[in-house]
Amino acid sequence: MAQIIDGKAIAKKIREEIRLEVASLKKSKGIVPGLATVLVGSNEASQVYVKNKNKACEEAGMASFHHPLPETTTLKDLLALIKKLNDDPKVHGILVQLPLPKRINAQAVLEAIDPQKDVDGFHPFNMGRLLSGGETVKPCTPFGIMKLLEAAGCKPEGKSAVVIGRSTIVGKPVALLLLAAHATVTICHSRTKNLDQIVSGADIVVAAIGSPEFLKGAWIKKEAVVIDVGINRTKEGKLVGDVEFDEAAKRAAAITPVPGGVGPMTIAMLLWNTLEAAKKC
Ligand code: GUN
Repeated sequence: MAQIIDGKAIAKKIREEIRLEVASLKKSKGIVPGLATVLVGSNEASQVYVKNKNKACEEAGMASFHHPLPETTTLKDLLALIKKLNDDPKVHGILVQLPLPKRINAQAVLEAIDPQKDVDGFHPFNMGRLLSGGETVKPCTPFGIMKLLEAAGCKPEGKSAVVIGRSTIVGKPVALLLLAAHATVTICHSRTKNLDQIVSGADIVVAAIGSPEFLKGAWIKKEAVVIDVGINRTKEGKLVGDVEFDEAAKRAAAITPVPGGVGPMTIAMLLWNTLEAAKKC
């Protein structure tokens, strides 16, 4: 039976370390790290995610400034708000919750954020640095995944890593981080042929597909490390990942549960990025 990688406990430890560092930054320099969150519309899942992000900020002793905006918000309104936040010295990090309504050009919004305040790491400046190897802000979920691998004692160097999913939020950046950690990386997606064969050769599997239990346990190589980014609700109301957990756990050396695996790490790394942004002031 696989080691279960307890993301909740690992995230808790990181958040506690952040809380102590925030307190010392306040004491030594009088700086209170501040995160501004922007949410357009009333997507229920996004509302929960943003609420949890704000709550985590407050628990870490950081300031949080939430900006809920109506569904009818225009690109112009959003750009005006971002300009205000860019210029606000109390705001060290800006997070615009995705997805934005389809009619809003999300790329234009992300590009308007000051790269120094881009705690998501989605600005092309930071994405470019991720690609070219300069100092950058690592996107929160991929950063959290690398921390989970480290906590599980998994060193990517020389290993074969398969990432399933090519989103800008998870798939592409995590592939780059694994590559920087010297893994041999394959990116798979919805058009990939023979996915089962590719997965069965992987020492590290990162599943970010968004489809319940899509990855079959029998595909997992014996002693592989499996990171499940998916969070899907079944018809019965149960939360499941992108991986068939029970079967995969019989073969893997280590695996993340859903919930309680990757999810808590995203918030912990957001706090980390916000603290780092504040420290650079
Ligand atoms: N939506 C889903 N994940 C994320 C994330 O990491 N950042 C933002 N801004 N939106 C998201």
